[in-house]
Formats: sequence, C-alpha cells, structure tokens
Amino acid sequence: MSAVESVAKTPMSSGFSQSNHPNNPRLQCITLSADALAQFESATQAWDLQAVEYKPFLRFAVANALDEACDGQLSPLLNDIMLNREQGAFLFNYLGTPQGDASDFHVKLSTAISHLIGVPNFDAMYGKFYARFTVRNKDESDSYLRQAHRRMELHNDGTYVDERTDFVLMMKMKEENMEGGDSLILHVDDWQDLDQFYNHPLAKQNIQWGSPPSKQVGYKVHHPIFFEEDKNGKPHMLFIDQFAEPQNMRQGLYLHQMGESLESEENCSNIEVPVGSMLVLQNHCWLHGRDKFVAHLGLERELLRQRGHFTAN
Ligand SMILES: [Fe+2]
Repeated sequence: MSAVESVAKTPMSSGFSQSNHPNNPRLQCITLSADALAQFESATQAWDLQAVEYKPFLRFAVANALDEACDGQLSPLLNDIMLNREQGAFLFNYLGTPQGDASDFHVKLSTAISHLIGVPNFDAMYGKFYARFTVRNKDESDSYLRQAHRRMELHNDGTYVDERTDFVLMMKMKEENMEGGDSLILHVDDWQDLDQFYNHPLAKQNIQWGSPPSKQVGYKVHHPIFFEEDKNGKPHMLFIDQFAEPQNMRQGLYLHQMGESLESEENCSNIEVPVGSMLVLQNHCWLHGRDKFVAHLGLERELLRQRGHFTAN
C-alpha cells in the first residue's frame, strides 16, 4: 500500500478531519471543526490585521493559536504532508462561520497555515507577506495572472526570483458570477513525459528568467528547469511558460515542447476551491494552473496568495 492509499478519513478528535480528495488521492483535504474555528477566532481576536502585518512574530502566535485549537496535532500533520513527496498538497477548509469580519479572518487563517509549515516570502507585487488580487471580466494587466477567459498554463511559482519558493498557498476570498475557473494541479511524478524531459541534455542547463513590470522584480535569474533533486533523488522543477527567456533555438524548442506536453497531460486534476478554502502545494513537485471561466460582466473573484520557504526540514 502506498503512502497515498494509506490515508483514510480520520474523525474530528483533534479539531479537524482528514481525507483524500476524490479527484486526486495525493491531495489531502483537511477540514477544521466549527469548535476549533471558534476557539481560533476567539484566541486571535485581540490582534487586528494591522498588528499581524506590522509584527512578524505575531504571525507565529496566530499559527500557534490554530495549532492549540487542534490539540497540537495540526502542525505535525501539515508538515508531514508537505515533506512527503507522495502527497505534498492539502486543501484546507473549515466548518462553521467566523463571527467577525470574514475577510480579516481569512487573512489570519491563511497566515496561521503558512506559519505552521514555514515562513512566507515578501510579495513584491503587493508589498506585504501576502498578496490579494481580483480577477474580473476584463483585465489590462501584463501577465495572465488576472485574465479570466483563458486557461492559465501549468507552472511552478518562484521561477523568476532569487529566493526559495518551497510552498504556494492560494486562498479564495470572494467569488461572484463565476462558472469554471477551477484550480488545475499536476504532480511531477504523474507527468507521463517526465522522463523524456528530465533525461534531455537541456534538463540541467541554465535558462534565463525575467518578469514583466507588474511583478516588481528588477533582475533576471538563471537556473535549469530541473534545478535540484529531493532527498530521494527525485526531481524538483521550476517552470513557467511566460517568464522563460530562451537564448537560442534549442532552448526555445525544448521549452515549447515542455509546455505542449504539460498542457496535454491527462493526469492533471481539476480542483474546486470554495470561498474560505485554501490550496497549499509543495511548489517544486506540483505544478498548478487555472481552468478558464465562462464570460460574465459581473464576474469577480478575489484571491489571496502566500509563497514561502519551509523551516521544518
Ligand atoms: Fe502560480
């Protein structure tokens, strides 16, 4: 029995339950109980959002409050999931309803989760340790991030920055008039053409990466697609189609063929993320993207993201 299959649904004895996602058994569904939610909200209500933004150490106290609401069982579980290559992903949601401002509560809850597994990197686009942005029917921006009517191709985050991006957390804050737009995820080990690209002469050759002005990253970085191996010798990836800057025909065609292969991969899973839920991925063994939406003039979706590095390994 693999590590993926061995995880059965657990009862809510520690303030949460765990089960395999029906669309992809690697993905773990963690559901916080209403009681644990209330305990967490009560324990953190004295700390307003501005204090959490101004004082980095307070974010760890927020995280600890969530772990205490789960009898200290949540932190080890989330770290086990993230460090287990067979899983490396969870969808976190909750039962019950926050009593205070839902938006502020969601920032605190996502901050608790990110600080149980690591430390978020500074988000240069938003100027904080997290970013919030809205997808609308029309968008004039310079990347696909906020554009609705097209599929956002599978990619890793952190390709064009010089800091580690071990995890990516994506939370849905608000949604109106949406049809479609599920998250798309693919585990590197489920990519059927992996060997073809990993055993290619260009797999370990540096590629140049840059980003458009909105990302507020004023430099270029150089690294291979398969930039390192994990402790068991399996590949970690950093790939995104938009920001690779191939310098010759061989690199260009290698990247183009990789994009084509990923977009036609049938092992890619559609994951619906409800409002108030967050999808957290080990960023180097999972690729993520977004399915297209159905056009609607009142279409609006607000997302929160945190990207960071692990501290427990
Ligand atoms: Fe992304």
